[in-house]
Amino acid sequence: MPWKCFCCIISEEEQPKTSLNKNRDYPWESYTLKELLHATNNFHQDNKIGEGGFGSVYWGRTSKGVEIAVKRLKAMSAKAEMEFAVEVEVLGRVRHKNLLGLRGFYVGGEERLIVYDFMPNHSLITHLHGHLAADCLLDWSRRMNIIIGAAEGLAYLHHEENPHIIHRDIKASNVLLDNEFEAKVADFGFAKLVPEGVTHLTTRVKGTLGYLAPEYAMWGKVSESCDVYSFGILVLEIISAKKPIEKLAGGVKRDIVQWVTPYVQKGIFNHIADPKLKGKFDRQQLESMVMLAMKCTDSSPENRPSMVEVVEWLKGITGPGRRTKEMSEKVIEDEEFTDTDYEEFGIRQSNLRMAGDRLKIR
Ligand SMILES: Nc1ncnc2c1ncn2[C@@H]1O[C@H](COP(=O)(O)OP(=O)(O)O)[C@@H](O)[C@H]1O
Ligand SMILES: [Mg+2]
Repeated sequence: MPWKCFCCIISEEEQPKTSLNKNRDYPWESYTLKELLHATNNFHQDNKIGEGGFGSVYWGRTSKGVEIAVKRLKAMSAKAEMEFAVEVEVLGRVRHKNLLGLRGFYVGGEERLIVYDFMPNHSLITHLHGHLAADCLLDWSRRMNIIIGAAEGLAYLHHEENPHIIHRDIKASNVLLDNEFEAKVADFGFAKLVPEGVTHLTTRVKGTLGYLAPEYAMWGKVSESCDVYSFGILVLEIISAKKPIEKLAGGVKRDIVQWVTPYVQKGIFNHIADPKLKGKFDRQQLESMVMLAMKCTDSSPENRPSMVEVVEWLKGITGPGRRTKEMSEKVIEDEEFTDTDYEEFGIRQSNLRMAGDRLKIR
């Protein structure tokens, strides 16, 4: 799809409206405010399905009966307007099975609205830590599939689009699930477009604590490998259902890599799996996933794999030759090992990675 800047998008919106832009080179629709107000019952509180930094997201149904999600800008400000522009611009140019589909947008007066395909199975955060966590709808093979899907979506952004796209806010609430529990990476408001040949940029830090690569958090150095780092955190979160940062008694904060490292060092991977899986996971895959996540969260960006390498690695773990065995594995209580043992290792993210070093994907 050829490059179109946001100004072109806006000005073309003024052109006569076709129901679907079939004769154009991009497949979105320009909606009228009336249509979207009708679809969402005037942005009724009961239709609200999500809330983020940008604004609220509402469920709606169009007059043709299609379910949609509409993101509504909270308040007009230069910052919000920029996020809106970036999201429409980026989403308008990408098409991939693992990226949330843009259906259209509306710009007028004080209103800025983005219309997406509706994702009936919410975001990952709902299943890992939210109101659906207890239902445990994410069995092991669904989790593996979500990890692969998110990796493929990211690999597409990093390597198949030109300019390359760095997402900058990969996290559980930004990975949505369709009716088949396929991952759809969403929320492109912080995305950065990187021209070919540029290895990294220095920018103001955006994103979410717990997922930020150290070089980005400290020096604002942004490159594709910042997304790789966040992806690594997300992998650990998906398999363990632990939050990226946990507050321990006494107010001490512990990140998920610090939590997982002692288990890796002792080789007791079973303890890392989400207890809600009740031992139903493929031990080999679990181990490989953890090792991959360790590599992705290496403190040095040059030691992290690219997303293409991650996808290859994941296919090797779960591919056709490697059937997912959802056997019921008894968690081996072979060693006395408590959650607080990490303290005794005095672990910092910078000195841990013996695990990552053992993993040779390059
Ligand atoms: N297409 C969609 N289908 C279903 N829920 C959605 C959709 N888009 C967003 N949401 C919900 O709204 C939340 C916020 O959306 P997001 O795009 O991340 O906005 P923000 O930029 O405000 O963070 C998501 O975490 C999700 O729960
Ligand atoms: Mg979000």
